[in-house]
Amino acid sequence: MRTQVAIVGAGPAGLLLGALLHKHGIANVIVEQRSADYVLGRVRAGVLEQVTVDLLDEAGAGARLHAEGLVDDGFVLAFGGQVHRINLFERTGKRVVVYGQTEVTRDLMTARAEAGLQTVYAADDVAVHGFDGDRPFVTWRQGGAEKRLDCDWIAGCDGFHGVCRASVPAGAIRTFEKVYPFGWLGILADVKPISHEIVYANHERGFALASLRSPTRSRYYVQCPLSDKPEDWSDEAFWAEFRVRLPAPLAEKLVTGPSFEKSVAPLRSFVAEPMRFGRLFLAGDAAHIVPPTGAKGLNLAAGDVGLLSRALAEHYLEKRDAALDDYSRRALARVWKAERFSWWFTSMMHRFPDNGEFGARMQLAELDYLMSSSAAQTAVAENYVGLPL
Ligand code: FAD
Ligand code: PHB
Repeated sequence: MRTQVAIVGAGPAGLLLGALLHKHGIANVIVEQRSADYVLGRVRAGVLEQVTVDLLDEAGAGARLHAEGLVDDGFVLAFGGQVHRINLFERTGKRVVVYGQTEVTRDLMTARAEAGLQTVYAADDVAVHGFDGDRPFVTWRQGGAEKRLDCDWIAGCDGFHGVCRASVPAGAIRTFEKVYPFGWLGILADVKPISHEIVYANHERGFALASLRSPTRSRYYVQCPLSDKPEDWSDEAFWAEFRVRLPAPLAEKLVTGPSFEKSVAPLRSFVAEPMRFGRLFLAGDAAHIVPPTGAKGLNLAAGDVGLLSRALAEHYLEKRDAALDDYSRRALARVWKAERFSWWFTSMMHRFPDNGEFGARMQLAELDYLMSSSAAQTAVAENYVGLPL
């Protein structure tokens, strides 16, 4: 088998890259280790920036997002028992759209199937070869048979635990990492959300986040110890803890009910440099992780593949490689800005076991300062709505 771009991983980064390349007439095949149902079963991000929405439109996968996504002009910050609001639209002229990553993935899968593009699911032992030379290729096993895909370029869109970054020689890559001493326990429940705008709550018992997937489906999180397992938390225990962490005006609006998804996610900041190794490019979580507080992970993944698809289009259609040569630098410049914001927002909103009461008061003082400073609120709003490509 031969193609122009071999894409490893059918998460949002891989699927969006495939769709954008197809619009430029560039052939691509995706190789994914899991089944399509497994990929669709992972509940993750919920907030899309304008840049991401624009790229999904460019990919021809934006119709349902425009019909069903919930447009928010701002978000809510709760601390010290009070409710505050950051007005994104007034401060930046931009909004965000609440639309689940599962739905983004489904829309991209549907568009890919309709365009008749090839995706290999359930590929075992995926490996990448020859990217330091002129003839890269990808291999895998399926049904006992060895498979091989020759290509011009490999796009490593295979997430944090993928094979692409791990295949780069240790001396060619530098990584930067911070692991936070807590996780997020998240649930999905078919109950009316407490707010159509996302609520970030700082509380002495820990952080809480109220998000949503539709006017009748809530996505709620609480900060929890890293050692906690979803099965340690009954629905009753979750609702009690979540309610306690909300300020009274929001707690009063809480509707509870049975959850149908519960998972614990660790929080991490991570960057790999560079994002290109010969004929292998990294994009999305394969190259960087942000803690979810800033809602940046999926949006960064989309930004990466936006840049990469344009650079590959220049290579094939205009025979120019300047953008390919500049991909890693440009992507990393956006990544580090998002890393800073996500780290700052995480640091300000969570209970840190080692920071004690002094640390908790510093957070409240900084949040108070934020709500008293128009310039500081504008800076937060600009970071939240994201950078242009
Ligand atoms: P992934 O989604 O991880 O996809 C990688 C794909 O590669 C997977 O399908 C995987 O099966 C496949 N793969 C892995 N290894 C191999 C291999 N060896 N061979 C072949 N295929 C392989 N981001 C936001 O922007 N906004 C939010 O609100 C937000 N909230 C979040 C909430 C939570 C609880 C979590 C956990 C994350 C959140 N994120 C958010 C982050 C976002 O979900 C990720 O950044 C996003 O999924 C990255 O997409 P990706 O395609 O790069 O990687
Ligand atoms: C979500 O809806 O899952 C969500 C929203 C905002 C975040 C993180 C996750 O910051």
